Amino acid sequence: MQSKIPAVITPLLIDLLRLKFCLNLNGIHGVAHWARVRSNGLRLARDNGANTRIIEYFAFLHDVCRRNNGRDPDHGARAARFSRHLRDRHLDLDDEEFLILVAAIGGHTHGVAHHDITVQTCWDADRLDLARVGIEPEPMRLCTAAARDPLVIASARENAQVWRRQYLSGEKSQ
Ligand SMILES: [Fe+2]
Repeated sequence: MQSKIPAVITPLLIDLLRLKFCLNLNGIHGVAHWARVRSNGLRLARDNGANTRIIEYFAFLHDVCRRNNGRDPDHGARAARFSRHLRDRHLDLDDEEFLILVAAIGGHTHGVAHHDITVQTCWDADRLDLARVGIEPEPMRLCTAAARDPLVIASARENAQVWRRQYLSGEKSQ
């Protein structure tokens, strides 16, 4: 039986994000990363009650305005501004939820602390995927107790490393 709950991330929104993203969609900040951040975040939300709709939008938007795969300190601010353009037609959030999304996206690179559990969960979901670039997620840099669970870190690391091995082997064969 098909779910009657409409998808948060619609095919039209994905099409828009694919057009907006100027880097390799199959690269380290591309769609597979977005999907793992979503999965990480939804897993954390089961424990801590974070807002899953905001997590899903964060996962697919937070890196979409990157201009390179290295140091790009303003990409979060650009993505937060881009989110405002999408808001009316593509983001099904009330005013309070939208402000939380913007805070999560805008602060995800440099943020170390935030009072809102959903913002914290978004940041942790992203940081739990660092093993895709060969960086070990550090518990000290994670905001939520759910993310600091060693089993959660190990599971996210494994998922990221599986992708990394495939990505690096593909690079070598090109
Ligand atoms: Fe990211």
